Amino acid sequence: MYKSTAAELLAKALNKSAEETIKQIERPKQLQHGDYAFPCFALAKEKRQSPQCIAAELAAELSHEEFSAITAVGGYVNFTLDKKLAGSSVLKDILQQRAAYGNTAIGQGQTVTIDLSSPNIAKPFSMGHLRSTVIGNSISLLLEKQGYDVVRINHVGDWGTQFGKLICAYEKWGEEEKVRANTIPELLKLYVRFHEEAAQDEHLEQEGRDWFRKLEQGDAYANKLWRWFRDVSMEEFGRVYELMGVHFDSDAGEAFYNDKMERVVKELEQKNLLSLSEGAQVVRLDEFDLPPSLIKKKDGATLYATRDLAAAIYRKETYKFSKSLYVVGHEQSLHFQQLKLVLEKMGYAWSDGITHIPFGMVLQDGKKMSTRKGKLVLLDKVLEQAIQLAAANIAEKNPNLADKEEVARQVGVGAVLFHDLKHERIHDFEFSLEDMLRVEGETGPYVQYTHARASTLLSKGGKIQGGPEVDGETAAAAWPILSLLLQFPDAVNNAVINYDPSRIAKYVIDLAQAFNSYYGKVRILEEDEKIGARLKVVAAVASVLEEGLRLLGIRAPRQM
Ligand code: ARG
Repeated sequence: MYKSTAAELLAKALNKSAEETIKQIERPKQLQHGDYAFPCFALAKEKRQSPQCIAAELAAELSHEEFSAITAVGGYVNFTLDKKLAGSSVLKDILQQRAAYGNTAIGQGQTVTIDLSSPNIAKPFSMGHLRSTVIGNSISLLLEKQGYDVVRINHVGDWGTQFGKLICAYEKWGEEEKVRANTIPELLKLYVRFHEEAAQDEHLEQEGRDWFRKLEQGDAYANKLWRWFRDVSMEEFGRVYELMGVHFDSDAGEAFYNDKMERVVKELEQKNLLSLSEGAQVVRLDEFDLPPSLIKKKDGATLYATRDLAAAIYRKETYKFSKSLYVVGHEQSLHFQQLKLVLEKMGYAWSDGITHIPFGMVLQDGKKMSTRKGKLVLLDKVLEQAIQLAAANIAEKNPNLADKEEVARQVGVGAVLFHDLKHERIHDFEFSLEDMLRVEGETGPYVQYTHARASTLLSKGGKIQGGPEVDGETAAAAWPILSLLLQFPDAVNNAVINYDPSRIAKYVIDLAQAFNSYYGKVRILEEDEKIGARLKVVAAVASVLEEGLRLLGIRAPRQM
């Protein structure tokens, strides 16, 4: 709105297109320099004039009611919004639209499939899968805010040679009772034991492969065991999803594609894309300087890549997606590059819409948390601990809080999610339970606490009175807040464009900080003629914080 007004004014004066001009408009580093800045350095060359001169001329020439000042500062034209006007209008928008503030129709009529979470059965839910779950969930919510139809797919790792090995191990050393009592750790133990013993006994690997072949050929006993492993694993994962409030539209995992791969292999054959490499069937990608994509092993067994190929085609046919996203750690970048290129070689133009959204690792003492070294921090344990700590906090500070358990859950889970999402998606970060739960600093509980503070003010302040206008004095004092509120739609858009929820996490931190500093300076509930205007600011902050947290998959309790 305001930015486009500035762009139009500039474009008209310079005889350029407004679309080009708007791209050059920046945000001044400091709020006192105004709300938008147009740099004149590129024009200086073109016009053979100093940027200062150009800026001064433009500033003198331009005016518009939306801006209280247009000034030249060091080669920039700075635009300062009329605070009363812009403040009144953003508060009106937010209080009318509430959670819908910042919604757009950019994605209307388009379907996006998103592959997220996708843990491997019979193994613990790892931090990597946590990242995929929370990043994927947030991206889904953000896309929905822009009007896209989102299909969330949990591509569970439930197929592959490892299940042959697991069945083999269970046959040799497994005890049903133990597995029933302590499913995933017991299955993991069996799997680890298989590898230890296979190091001594070379026949074991072959036995494992034989079991997988039986499984792929539909052997009833092997399938019964597999189904059992899958069911109990999914039950455990389900508990974690429920805690986090994440749901899926499909949990068609790798096994789902068993009967859908042959067709793809045939198609590859017909399109002359398969070649033999040491007995295995591969699609060569030499022209892209990439290693070949493995389609079938020497013994005819299919692979991870084969299943992803079948899945991609199935998803296109079933959901008619315009984009197909995969939220998977960056160690799988090559795999997704290959997937996309094989589809392209098959002649599928829609392969363009396939996008891998990689993310960094969770570190512990500077190293990747790993399943194998037994250093693994189990996710359900982390969530449990975070909830317990949050509950202890409530017991100490607010023992009479209604709904204590639910609030503890929202705060504990929110802390874990926020800690993950506030880091730029692609960066590795260090895991720290103490950090997550602090009520000061850049944490989920800090934002939730700020939202609860605003909600308390609102319930104490009573009904918001006064017309649509906000007076100039209130608008000026609350300007750091109002300016951020104006930026929320941009924050949503940037988060979507970059597939990076950290934009929203940073945004809610900034807004919470701006609000807390306002709260420290201004007596919000003072009974004067401006209390109505101040309460509007508070209500808008509460609304946008709640919506910002929602987009991160985090709840905003009214009291805590
Ligand atoms: N189960 C895999 C893993 O944990 C991730 C699957 C990702 N999705 C996919 N379509 N390949 O490593």
